Amino acid sequence: MLSDLHIQLAALADAPAIAALSKAEIERGLRHRWTPLRVRRAIKDTRTNVALVRKHGCLAGFGIMVYDEDTAHLYLLAVHPALRRRGIASALLVWLEKVALVAGITTVQVQAREQNTAALAFYGRHGYRQVSIEQGMYGEMENGVHLEKLLTHYRASED
Ligand SMILES: CC(C)(COP(=O)(O)OP(=O)(O)OC[C@H]1O[C@@H](n2cnc3c(N)ncnc32)[C@H](O)[C@@H]1OP(=O)(O)O)[C@@H](O)C(=O)NCCC(=O)NCCS
Repeated sequence: MLSDLHIQLAALADAPAIAALSKAEIERGLRHRWTPLRVRRAIKDTRTNVALVRKHGCLAGFGIMVYDEDTAHLYLLAVHPALRRRGIASALLVWLEKVALVAGITTVQVQAREQNTAALAFYGRHGYRQVSIEQGMYGEMENGVHLEKLLTHYRASED
């Protein structure tokens, strides 16, 4: 149940666990860019929210969204493999989108690997539409998919 999940803003001490989950589950096969240092910078950045869910005191999942004037960018979203399909990513995304909505932002953008069927199904379920494919976005062999959601399509049932 989404309502059972407690979303928190990350503390600086969460940066190593967030960076490790990003490296293992998002940046697989790529250069590790989301180091603890970069995550700490994101936590401190006033235009960025680093939201997380804990289970038994450990990081279960996190999302990082940057808020610009009209558009928000979901940079990273990941859930520990053992805790998937329990609504954790949905709760994080809904929370991050609500902040954007309150800030008057109309569009959320995100990218995913073309072969990441789980992520594409997840974003599709949340109302994101595929805008374009970028060849070789994740190294020579992997294309990226640009997705977008208009927040005016936000559904109250996602609460
Ligand atoms: C994509 C990801 C974040 C989803 O996290 P999650 O907590 O399992 O997602 P939820 O439980 O909130 O899923 C909500 C819905 O999304 C869809 N979905 C999620 N994972 C799916 C999968 N593997 N296959 C098909 N549909 C899926 C389903 O419709 C699901 O609802 P249901 O479980 O009632 O069928 C998770 O698989 C993950 O961390 N993957 C690795 C990192 C990644 O790819 N991040 C996204 C790109 S940055």
